[in-house]
Amino acid sequence: MDFQELVKFRRSSRWVFSKRRISDEDLKKILEAAQYAPTPHNRQPFEIIVVKDRNIIKQISEVEIRLSKEEVDGHIFWTRSKKELESKGVGVQVDVVPKFVHDLKDKPELIDDDEFWKKTMGLFSIVMQATAIMLIVIFDPKLPGIGPLKNLWGILGVGAVMQNIWLAANNLGISVHLISSQTMMVESIRKLHEILNIPKDYRILFLFRLGYEGKFGKYGTPYRRKLEDFVHLNKFSNKFTFKK
Ligand SMILES: Cc1cc2nc3c(=O)[nH]c(=O)nc-3n(C[C@H](O)[C@H](O)[C@H](O)COP(=O)(O)O)c2cc1C
Repeated sequence: MDFQELVKFRRSSRWVFSKRRISDEDLKKILEAAQYAPTPHNRQPFEIIVVKDRNIIKQISEVEIRLSKEEVDGHIFWTRSKKELESKGVGVQVDVVPKFVHDLKDKPELIDDDEFWKKTMGLFSIVMQATAIMLIVIFDPKLPGIGPLKNLWGILGVGAVMQNIWLAANNLGISVHLISSQTMMVESIRKLHEILNIPKDYRILFLFRLGYEGKFGKYGTPYRRKLEDFVHLNKFSNKFTFKK
């Protein structure tokens, strides 16, 4: 696919993937894309675990997500109608935010309801298991960048790994779902380390679900700010204007 087209075509796919497996040949291409990502001083501060074992995927899918009130408010704050997204270009469309977040907004008392979270985890786990391969992307804080922003630079490098993987997969017709929600709670992080045998001095940043689109199709957010809204000419105070 043409590169400009690919960048715009890349999308989050948050539904159940089909049962089709990913070939080793395609998996190798995706991992090579990660291998060649730019990182500070070429230190390559990352490790990637390819999870194919169905039993381990099941265990990961059962690692708890449980939002705090602050997180629910954050989700809702960034939720937009299609019309708002078309004009502002920032945030996610109402139906991209999982239903359980809307339920929590309408009934905040559910936050302490174990039954509610059990049901929510049941649904989350079904989607998580409908995955051909999971890639667990881990940051090595022992290999940071240099200077006061150390770890931020290192993590920026892992961001480049993230994007390379995503573009390479989408270019091969393989869908991607990035999940960070399981790496936000201390107990869930501990559980993931335990399941995947990750040493304590590494930091899981996110995991990718990879697979082929099932019958539901894509489910991402194609809206963006206009170029004029974030590009400046010479000084921050000057807007860049584009010739039509
Ligand atoms: C660091 C990071 C964390 C993210 N975490 C999640 C997540 O936990 N669950 C999810 O469904 N999407 C997650 N996303 C995907 C974004 O919501 C998505 O990229 C954005 O809304 C734009 O939509 P698009 O990917 O379809 O273009 C994350 C993206 C990034 C870069």
